[in-house]
Amino acid sequence: MSQSSAHPQGIAESDLLMERKSRFAELARLIPHTGSYDLLLDHEIEAGLFKALQLQTCIYISACLVTGGRVLSAEEIVERLSDRRVSLPNKTPNGLLLAKADMTLEFNLLHKCFARIMSGLGFDHLTDVWSLPMNVRVVSGQADPAILNRPYASSKAHSDTWAGEPADSVLLNVPILGDIGRTSLEWLEPPPALGESHLKTLSDFNDGEAIVRQSSKIDLTPKLGHIYFSDCALLHRTVRVNGGGCRVSIDLRIRMKTTPSYKAYVERLRGPSTLGSHYVPFQLWQRVGTETLMVFEETMEECRNKYRTPQASYGTGAPFKMLELNTDRAEVA
Ligand SMILES: [Fe+2]
Repeated sequence: MSQSSAHPQGIAESDLLMERKSRFAELARLIPHTGSYDLLLDHEIEAGLFKALQLQTCIYISACLVTGGRVLSAEEIVERLSDRRVSLPNKTPNGLLLAKADMTLEFNLLHKCFARIMSGLGFDHLTDVWSLPMNVRVVSGQADPAILNRPYASSKAHSDTWAGEPADSVLLNVPILGDIGRTSLEWLEPPPALGESHLKTLSDFNDGEAIVRQSSKIDLTPKLGHIYFSDCALLHRTVRVNGGGCRVSIDLRIRMKTTPSYKAYVERLRGPSTLGSHYVPFQLWQRVGTETLMVFEETMEECRNKYRTPQASYGTGAPFKMLELNTDRAEVA
């Protein structure tokens, strides 16, 4: 089957891209933002809400660092995360701080805090499913050559579809603390003539180099406390300036509502990939930390040796079970 005949109802590449931009424009209509880009949104979180989100992130990372209940400040966390002697057994080579049994409650509270911000934006009816668990990611200021050469290294420009994420996904990046000025991220726009032809799973981000060379960098400087919504048709990468410190960000993905024929097309593009995030409907996603708990069974001790060796896969979240909380409110006599 040729690539064009695989399109839903034989729609041309350029028309698919126009439809994608229209779907994204609906998000832009609802979410307050600055700047004007076709497939990228820059939303500044209200200051009080961001303060709460930053605090919950500090509480979660302090639990990962086993501080004995003390909550470290953002500055102390950056200092500890930059110290090579500090052991974080739950940190993957791609920098994910995976939730373990030891910090189940802290992770659920962080999710609850972020879910409140998302619910307040009121765009969930445009979405189909949301990734769970969301990623808490430490991006080191100093690149480790062994990690830079990994097939799915985030410092190589890429679309998340190249790592197996679905082609109807939008990535949310939220820089929370640390050196966003020098340990940053950037987005690139492929030439519109490519349409959606580049949204296929690759075994190495290097295989997309020809597309990266034709793409133009989007002029946007990320800041702490902003949410960057980027459609997966854009490319992105981690950028580092020499001497930069580490940064902590939250990232997750949402899948947009489309038609059944487009969903089938997305599955064909994705192929047999088993990579990619775990997605659930927003109604389930937004209950986490309030009516349900994500329960992580593996302990920090059990995973101590697991993430030391480089892994080929694109880092996705820790396995978990959902625990329904009894929210029946009994009358108190
Ligand atoms: Fe990515």
